[in-house]
Amino acid sequence: MAKVQSKSDLYGQLAAQLSSLLAGERDLIANAANFSSLIFHSLPDLNWAGFYFEKDGELVLGPFQGKPACVRIKIGQGVCGAGAAKCETVIVPNVHEFPGHIACDTASSSEIVVPLMKDTRLIGVLDLDSPSLARFDQDDARGLEGLVRILLSSVGS
Ligand code: SME
Repeated sequence: MAKVQSKSDLYGQLAAQLSSLLAGERDLIANAANFSSLIFHSLPDLNWAGFYFEKDGELVLGPFQGKPACVRIKIGQGVCGAGAAKCETVIVPNVHEFPGHIACDTASSSEIVVPLMKDTRLIGVLDLDSPSLARFDQDDARGLEGLVRILLSSVGS
């Protein structure tokens, strides 16, 4: 019987793939685009994966995979804005119970947002949506935070 791959094995494999995918390129948009494609096609049970970048006090849509999404989110609004305001990873097991959740794709049921920090300054967030309830846990948080560190170091942040 085939062995079920653990989440930590999967994130370990993704970290290696991401490092070689981003090697030699320092452009943030290019690397964020390849990042979102890699995780969208490698992590199971996602309907959206991508970035919002901080610009003039707002989050503005960056590279992503999935259906078209809202372009601007105020810091503090929705799940992305909450992660940006706290500068902490936010896991929402049921988006329908999250006050102020911004529904870009009605298929989304759970969500995780990981902040992108340059030193102590927020530069954006990584946002993943799933059609399943409670899709994301602390293993995903740690795994995605590790992948975000690879992205930030690839661009010299
Ligand atoms: N649901 C997010 C908005 C972004 S989309 O999920 C792509 C939020 O509440 O911030």
